[in-house]
Amino acid sequence: MNLVEIKKQAIQEINGVKSAVDLEKLRIKYLGRKGELTSVLRSLKDLSEKERKKAGKEANELKKEIEAVISGRKSEILEKELKTKERKIDVTVPGIKVLQGHLHPLTLISRKIEETFQSMGFKILEGPDIETEYYNFDALNIPKDHPARDAWDTFWLKTKNQKLLLRTHTSPMQIRFMEKNNPPFRIVVPGRCFRYEATDAFHSHTFYHLEGLMVDTNINIANFKAVIGEFLRKIFGRETEIRIKPSYFPFVEPGFEVDMRRPSGEWLEIMGAGMVHPNVFKAVGYVPSDWQGFAFGVGIDRIAMLKYKINDIRLLFSGDLKFLNQF
Ligand code: DAH
Repeated sequence: MNLVEIKKQAIQEINGVKSAVDLEKLRIKYLGRKGELTSVLRSLKDLSEKERKKAGKEANELKKEIEAVISGRKSEILEKELKTKERKIDVTVPGIKVLQGHLHPLTLISRKIEETFQSMGFKILEGPDIETEYYNFDALNIPKDHPARDAWDTFWLKTKNQKLLLRTHTSPMQIRFMEKNNPPFRIVVPGRCFRYEATDAFHSHTFYHLEGLMVDTNINIANFKAVIGEFLRKIFGRETEIRIKPSYFPFVEPGFEVDMRRPSGEWLEIMGAGMVHPNVFKAVGYVPSDWQGFAFGVGIDRIAMLKYKINDIRLLFSGDLKFLNQF
């Protein structure tokens, strides 16, 4: 058969067919490995180059056309089959269970934490994952070559002009916010942070922090204790004992660490905090003697682990459904 004949016959037969099985037979008859059109395509090799090009093009176009007619006919047949089947629905067949979606534990805890701070008048902000050296370090009173920088093992990005990095904490948003706003204010900044660190059950190269900052003319450590007490009460649903120990962070003076008492009686460190360092106020153009404020940084993953009794931080990033389905 030549191409014109194949086309005429194929289309006629395809349109006449009534079932998907017969349609498949026709597909094989024309387009299959030993099909009519395939043998035409195969015989092309005996033609001259010029003829081969022309005939090859025509044969390929026809192939596409026949495929299109088959697929059109297929939908018609399936639609018809479906309509007749509809009348035969077996209402006793057990249904298919639809799986219900749910939120990731980190999302759950972040929402709870954010709600808690919102109820105390804190505004929620987000910042960029990629930061400049200035916001992540310099403006936070962590100068270049200062040993304090060693506390943050940093992922540096390969850039030409500017030194960029994956933020090691969400503290840079203190600076970004204060550059554009004046006190009094209260803000919290949840977000993903990164450290160039070995991972273990309590450390991950990627984790979540919530930075907090409250500035006014007369903010003091008692205010901080009250805010953190309320935060823990709301998250853990009970009065939670805390203790404050002196510590060092370049952007606060004095700086401290906060431990909370677990139901088992042991103390666990949950955040770093302190009174905002005058150099940080200077970096954003405030007059340090006019303002006082506290800042803190709490590990959201740590809070999730405590709240949901998770013993390995890596589970939070594993995507393991056996773990996730428990929430
Ligand atoms: N940014 C600190 C860290 O990466 C946490 C922190 C400590 C934040 C003290 C603060 C603070 O605001 O005052 O570990």
